[in-house]
Amino acid sequence: MHLPESVRNLVLVGFMGSGKSSVGREIARRWEFRFIDTDAAIRQKYGKSIPEIFASFGEPFFRDEENQALQDLQNTNQAVIATGGGIVLQPRNHPLLRALGVVVWLTASEEVIWERVSRNQNRPLLRTPDPRTTISNLMSTRYPLYDSLADITVETSGLTHREVADHAVAAIHLWPAAQHEDRR
Ligand code: S3P
Repeated sequence: MHLPESVRNLVLVGFMGSGKSSVGREIARRWEFRFIDTDAAIRQKYGKSIPEIFASFGEPFFRDEENQALQDLQNTNQAVIATGGGIVLQPRNHPLLRALGVVVWLTASEEVIWERVSRNQNRPLLRTPDPRTTISNLMSTRYPLYDSLADITVETSGLTHREVADHAVAAIHLWPAAQHEDRR
């Protein structure tokens, strides 16, 4: 099943551990779209991991790079673009995200996010004495932002990446074609 022609790109937003990269890869494979990950672009630019970039240059630097990565994508078409969980924090990123294409928010409950992210150490913002509370606090700031930006929301709790991809694709096909154009 192919993407409606009026959709330029698919942009995935959501909290850490919501499955943006895995689901994005899956949808890109199905549609024969490029898969782009803003975190990966920043990692490649500096030849460093995200924790190393935070440690060497700090979070504000990383946020500027995130904005730059989005600006660099503005002529991109036919891509599935996974973004870092904090990309919604900067208001200047909002029009850039919306201009790229359909914005899909992958959401999950706090318990599910905790279950997914507590297994790995590559998220500098969660290296706190009480990461569970950190998640809760970050979520309360960010969920309203994801919600306000999203064209489509997909609840991912309890679903496999393939099932999430199925739901996202189905929702995009149901999304009225007129809206694809009105958004520009
Ligand atoms: C961040 C999320 C990470 C990465 C960085 C900051 C955030 O991406 O960009 O660690 O602020 O939520 P993922 O959402 O892919 O984990």
